[in-house]
Amino acid sequence: MPVVYLNGEFLPADEAKISVFDRGFLFGDGVYEVIPVYDRQSFRLASHLSRLQNSLDGIRMQNPFSEVEWTALIEQIIAKNEMNDQAVYLQVTRGVAPRDHLFPENVPPTVFMMSNPLKPVAVDFKEQGISAITVEDIRWQYCDIKAISLLPNTMMRQQAHEQGAQEAIMLRDGLMTEGSASNSYAIFDNVIYTAIKDKRVLPGITREVVFDLAVQAGIAIKEQELALERLYQADEIWISSSTRELLPVTRLDGKLVGTGQPGPVWKKLDNAYQQLKRKTNNE
Ligand SMILES: Cc1ncc(COP(=O)(O)O)c(C=O)c1O
Repeated sequence: MPVVYLNGEFLPADEAKISVFDRGFLFGDGVYEVIPVYDRQSFRLASHLSRLQNSLDGIRMQNPFSEVEWTALIEQIIAKNEMNDQAVYLQVTRGVAPRDHLFPENVPPTVFMMSNPLKPVAVDFKEQGISAITVEDIRWQYCDIKAISLLPNTMMRQQAHEQGAQEAIMLRDGLMTEGSASNSYAIFDNVIYTAIKDKRVLPGITREVVFDLAVQAGIAIKEQELALERLYQADEIWISSSTRELLPVTRLDGKLVGTGQPGPVWKKLDNAYQQLKRKTNNE
């Protein structure tokens, strides 16, 4: 039985209970993070904690812990779970209060953490690439906040699955934003393009790593708006996230992307990513 953390206690997952009045449950009123752990070492933890702070600020909640306290809790949950590679999920909600849209006063937040096995990315996805569909971005206007209210994202991901694809890439006003659970990129003539880091996209930590690795590899990376017609002409398309790393999209809306095979720029950066993730710890 996996060990989870809930409001100050580590306990077996089946013993952790949340009130039906929790605002996370009633309103989706909370934020979260997913932190990858390789060989029992968290990857880019400082960046995840800094994004958590931004998300909490974005929904006007106090951070219940300092960075040092979060780090200690995360180290404990890693130690209490068996796997070497883990995905630590943490969630902070606005706590338990009678149902009312207004924020409750003097109510402690609910803090929950669990750790799941971080499965290696499927070999097929890396060898052949994945399929993606494009969909309209139907989310709210604060997509930079990592909010737990993910209904649009789940709907889009389900639609992709039902159409035989692994990801839905969203377009807002006809321009690419990101994947339903990933950032997205298009490559033209060895230059990587991705959406501008504003409220339309989540500032992905893997995206940040992609920027670092591109600079180190001498590959230009640009934030730019991209329309669908341009995407269909890309040499390569990728998605990135903490659990799926960097994956090539070789079919978009049923059309081949470039040659229809994972491209050379992806190979170069994925190699660099694989080396980095086992080598570094906490930046
Ligand atoms: C909507 C969205 N964009 C981007 C990402 C990628 O973020 P990260 O690289 O920090 O995992 C995620 C991750 O879950 C996401 O849900």
